[in-house]
Amino acid sequence: MKKGFPEGFLWGGAIAASQADGAYNQGGKGLDTQDLRYFDAAWTKEERAMYKNRRINGEKYKKALTDDDTVHYPFRWGIDFYNHYKEDVKLFAELGIKVLRTSINWARIYPNGDDEMPNEEGIQFYIDLFDECHKYGIKVFATILHYNIPVNLVEKYGGWKNRKTIDFYVKYATTLFERLGNRVDYWLPFNEFNAGRFNPYNGVCLVEDQEPDYVNAIFQCLHHQFIANALTIKAGHEILPGSMIGGMIARFTTYPATCHPDDVMQMILDDQYSNWFYLDVMARGKYPAYIERYFDKENIQIKKEAGDDMILSENTIDFTAFSYYFSQVSTTKQGWEKTAGNLIMANKNPYLETSEWGWQKDPVGLRITLNQIYDRYQLPVFVAENGLGAKDILEADGTVHDPYRIDYLKTHIAQMKEAVIDGVDLLGYTMWGFIDIVSCGPMEMSKRYGVIYVDRDDEGKGTNKRYKKDSFYWYKKCIECNGDIE
Ligand code: BG6
Repeated sequence: MKKGFPEGFLWGGAIAASQADGAYNQGGKGLDTQDLRYFDAAWTKEERAMYKNRRINGEKYKKALTDDDTVHYPFRWGIDFYNHYKEDVKLFAELGIKVLRTSINWARIYPNGDDEMPNEEGIQFYIDLFDECHKYGIKVFATILHYNIPVNLVEKYGGWKNRKTIDFYVKYATTLFERLGNRVDYWLPFNEFNAGRFNPYNGVCLVEDQEPDYVNAIFQCLHHQFIANALTIKAGHEILPGSMIGGMIARFTTYPATCHPDDVMQMILDDQYSNWFYLDVMARGKYPAYIERYFDKENIQIKKEAGDDMILSENTIDFTAFSYYFSQVSTTKQGWEKTAGNLIMANKNPYLETSEWGWQKDPVGLRITLNQIYDRYQLPVFVAENGLGAKDILEADGTVHDPYRIDYLKTHIAQMKEAVIDGVDLLGYTMWGFIDIVSCGPMEMSKRYGVIYVDRDDEGKGTNKRYKKDSFYWYKKCIECNGDIE
């Protein structure tokens, strides 16, 4: 029987370019879709929620390009990791992480997406960043696309709706394999594949009121992403034999609301439709029958080209990955109470407490998910994101007391350890937003996930200085004793 985390377990931290890097107009970078997301200081919380995903084309998009003082573009500045990475990586090394998960910004490598030649300054930035990590023995887990694509690809080609975007993406990924290949240890072509369905602006760059047949367009885009993903795996394996290329979903762990067989069946359907479909295509290499049935029912018709099925079946992923923040319940009953969740509104579970943002905290759900995913695919697994978004207070003496975060980490890591003892082949754990970054949904700095505090507020004001929270010391100790911590 296994006793706990294996030797060499990859304890780590995760961030994404658009939420951390900033420097949107430095180093030859082009404008990307996250750079367009903005909020007006005068908006109410409801307006912010309503407008957050409506950026491309039309009046609001143009407004986002003006320099109006009341309009804020949090993703253009992030935490200015681009200009602070040396001191930040030094802190990461002090924390003791073994792996950094970050994303590469497509618009830094190909500013317009369809450029002939890559932007050398962009490539150099990642060479320097990854070398800095290796200097401290920190491995690199690179996400090739974490939501933001060059704006030009959307304006000129319609983004993922257009098959040409597959070629642009594969060219971009191939450049990364060729130029950064020996500096990256794990690759992830797409962050949270199912985001395309549940947050289409981020996932596949579609805006609902600009699409005559929104749902059909979403699945067409997703098909193009599946093909791009498979062709990327093909290129990666050819250029870098033995490379590890994974597939990821945002895991919506789902329980039946009651033991009524209808609720159990509903849970199976919700799970297939929201979670498994995406990993099934990437890991098993074909569209499952249940989704064909769903397409028939909803009258969804996607265009496939001859050869697509073979591309999918011949190029499957080497490991699975997921983000885990909450669980929810499934039921056929109408009017079930809802609460917020990552990317979706979730059905409430009366047994669980929620975070300040309404996400249901469920450490045991992490063990359940790890067992489910490993049982289903028998591939090594990465917990690519997990963490608690909370409001923190920076004290006058530079300390931040965050026992709630320590408790969250402690309980989730304990369940992860149980899953390893259950037999799950777990590669690593990259805690989400381990240095505070701009939150993705609400675009707030005040929704903090980090064990490192960054002094910036929602409007980007502050010293931008970094401070160690109490959870920094806890996570450091946890890593030192390989997760064997009370
Ligand atoms: C995941 C994303 O869906 O959830 C991250 O991959 C995101 O980019 C994270 O930051 C947490 O969500 P939020 O909205 O609280 O930042």
